[in-house]
Amino acid sequence: MKISKLTKPLCGELNIPGDKSISHRAVMLGSLAEGDTEVSDFLEGADCLSTIDCFRKMGIEIEKTCEKIIVHGKGLRGLKKPYETLNCGNSGTTTRLISGILSGQAFQSTLTGDLSVQKRPMNRIIRPLTLMDANIKSIHSNDCVPLAIIGGQLHGIHYHSPIASAQVKSSILLAGLYADSPTSVTEPYISRNHTERMLSYFGGDVSTSGTTVTVLPDPCLKGQKIAVPGDISSAAYFIVAALMIPESEILLKNVGINPTRSGILDVCKAMGGNIEIINQRTNGCEPTADLLVKASDLHGIVIEGKIIPTLIDEIPVIAVLASYALGTTVIKDARELKVKESNRLDIMVNELKAMGADITGTDDGMIIHGGKPLNGAVIDSRLDHRIAMAFSIAGLVSSGETTIKRSECVDISYPGFYKDLEVLSQN
Ligand code: S3P
Repeated sequence: MKISKLTKPLCGELNIPGDKSISHRAVMLGSLAEGDTEVSDFLEGADCLSTIDCFRKMGIEIEKTCEKIIVHGKGLRGLKKPYETLNCGNSGTTTRLISGILSGQAFQSTLTGDLSVQKRPMNRIIRPLTLMDANIKSIHSNDCVPLAIIGGQLHGIHYHSPIASAQVKSSILLAGLYADSPTSVTEPYISRNHTERMLSYFGGDVSTSGTTVTVLPDPCLKGQKIAVPGDISSAAYFIVAALMIPESEILLKNVGINPTRSGILDVCKAMGGNIEIINQRTNGCEPTADLLVKASDLHGIVIEGKIIPTLIDEIPVIAVLASYALGTTVIKDARELKVKESNRLDIMVNELKAMGADITGTDDGMIIHGGKPLNGAVIDSRLDHRIAMAFSIAGLVSSGETTIKRSECVDISYPGFYKDLEVLSQN
């Protein structure tokens, strides 16, 4: 994909596609519920399609129409032994959450993923699930997929997670549905809480106190209607673009603003960004709003601590914003970025430097002295969707032309990304 410097403002309205994290969970909990779950605005990205594929292989019928999917749930103990290895594709969320569910089933299963997922650390779920009496092994003993899981009765634990990770927390909570006693997870900071919200919405018994979440076993989950809000992680690319490109004004409609996900809004505002949150409402179990974003004068800030899990996937595009903003931005406590779909810390630092940014990598983040002019460059996405989209936005404010190699990976979370960018650029 080739991106040229944009010489006119971004204008117009956009409906942001459905939230990836919520779409995964709707399929999973819909499958474990009794009866039908109707999901509108489901994200038809490659990751969520991997989740559908896995549950279909366990006997769950999932219908797709143009405006919704219908999951014909079979109850907590209704899954069947999959007839082949479950392939989670590029999706770490599918891999880690489904492992919790599979640990409690009365059958054996194996799961794997693509070359990126095959490098991602699974010890973070193997360890707590094993403490719950799960029989889960890394087949090549390298803490990565493929995993072999012999499901069975699990034991409730109180796990103190060393990292704030919704994938780890959710894997344990989902396993906790099959335990003999309550299961709790305490995190250093609160990570996204879509599993907790959706489990309660389906009739599960989940309580939260501070950074601890507790789930009771054996709930009777009932199929629901779910309207998936727009993904704030996808909205982030256009928020950043509109803040940077002079005279831009865009309206992003129906975006999820769950406080455990909306750190990007706080950061942009603290950097001087003009973002109005309008028409706030609650859509089933998640808060949503429309976001009116206007070009702004931006300055650097420090981003660290408990806000990091609330914007973890937005850090690549925040690094682009910080390279453009005047003054210094320091990002700390973001070590987790090294073990995402790619090493996002190193790639952002090296490639933004190649475009002319004054940026230095640190052990757990980066220091950016913003305001240096950026130049177009050839950037390989490494098949990481968020790298491809972050550098596409960088290309809009860089001189000349930017080429994103292997840009088709945007389909993982935002299949219409380039079309939507064109719509806002041409209004
Ligand atoms: C996700 C949690 C986050 C995030 C990922 C989706 C989820 O990962 O980066 O894109 O849906 O639970 P971690 O739990 O590893 O932080």
